[in-house]
Amino acid sequence: MSKEIKVGIIGSGGIARVHAIAYSKMDFVKIVAVSDIVKERAESLSKEFNAKAYANHEDMLKENDLDLISICTPPFTHRDIALDVIKSNINVFCEKPLALNSKEAKEMVDEARRRGLYFGVDFQNRFLPQHVKAKELLNEGAIGKLIQARFRVGYDILEAVPPSAPMREWLFDKEKSGGGVLMDIGSHWIDLSRMFVGVEAKNVSAEISRNIENIEVEDNAMILILFKNSVHTLVDVSWTQQNEQWPVELYGDQGTILCNLTEKKIVLYTRNRKYSNDGKIRTITPQLPEIGEPHEYLIRMFVNSIIRRNEPPVSGYDGYKTQEIIDAAYRSANEKIKVIL
Ligand SMILES: NC(=O)c1ccc[n+]([C@@H]2O[C@H](COP(=O)([O-])OP(=O)(O)OC[C@H]3O[C@@H](n4cnc5c(N)ncnc54)[C@H](O)[C@@H]3O)[C@@H](O)[C@H]2O)c1
Repeated sequence: MSKEIKVGIIGSGGIARVHAIAYSKMDFVKIVAVSDIVKERAESLSKEFNAKAYANHEDMLKENDLDLISICTPPFTHRDIALDVIKSNINVFCEKPLALNSKEAKEMVDEARRRGLYFGVDFQNRFLPQHVKAKELLNEGAIGKLIQARFRVGYDILEAVPPSAPMREWLFDKEKSGGGVLMDIGSHWIDLSRMFVGVEAKNVSAEISRNIENIEVEDNAMILILFKNSVHTLVDVSWTQQNEQWPVELYGDQGTILCNLTEKKIVLYTRNRKYSNDGKIRTITPQLPEIGEPHEYLIRMFVNSIIRRNEPPVSGYDGYKTQEIIDAAYRSANEKIKVIL
């Protein structure tokens, strides 16, 4: 690979700009080309980042010698676009949710592995300073053995994604998005549960519901995941809550970690002797690491993993395993069963 990493971006909507900003901050990376089926969106992004604009990714692949492509299109397009990119021997950084289902996700990941290509997924919430610190404390044994965890998100989707947003074209359309809140923010929060627990899931039970009028996807989901180390987690995601909240709660046999993104802090309650001389419960508010914008952090680490030939920070396999839990959650809710993975 040449010293300069030549990047292309497919899809030029909201998240594409976030990827472009991240790449533009790296000296050894050049954004060469961007595409969008709505050519004006590609042109607008290309002007801002001094790249070529294309109305389809096939021409972009034919005419440029790229090292890495960000896929920033809606979920129903991810599989076909990723396979086109991979078959052109180009590394992939794909938006979440990785695909419409785990079968598609596995195809994408297997093809990249067969060709020895790097495949990353944009689960940037792992790199929010609160989550990085919480994982560090968990690994240090600050709360002892993890017993259970809760990952909650609630906000008002109609406020967050107004009718004028381009996302409205696909987000509430089941064929294009693959599902509602579970696919959208649920994929992030399920990935977080896998990261914190550190082993794969054993079984999944879920309930989903649809409450907003005139949308065809679920707007609330509660998923109970039992992991192979007996840790059980609740992933509870809602598009219909007016008091926005993003709490992550980790409960161990010697303490508790509470993360609260809205307050930008975490609190550790522990009787672990490393933190408490007399073994009584202490309340500590640890300083958070300076991470910067989490997409930028993850994209930089992914590019570095390609250059240094290391494991990517979040791999296609992570995207696939999260999708497997999502599939199991839909099946559990629809068939009213506990799904064994
Ligand atoms: N990681 C995150 O936190 C995060 C945040 C926002 C969005 N996303 C994900 O990013 C993806 C895109 O979301 P968005 O908010 O940017 O949506 P968006 O609607 O703003 O942009 C998507 C763009 O893709 C274009 N497009 C559709 N099909 C295409 C194709 N075949 N080829 C090229 N372009 C095509 C559309 O015209 C549109 O401009 C989704 O998978 C979404 O879940 C992730």
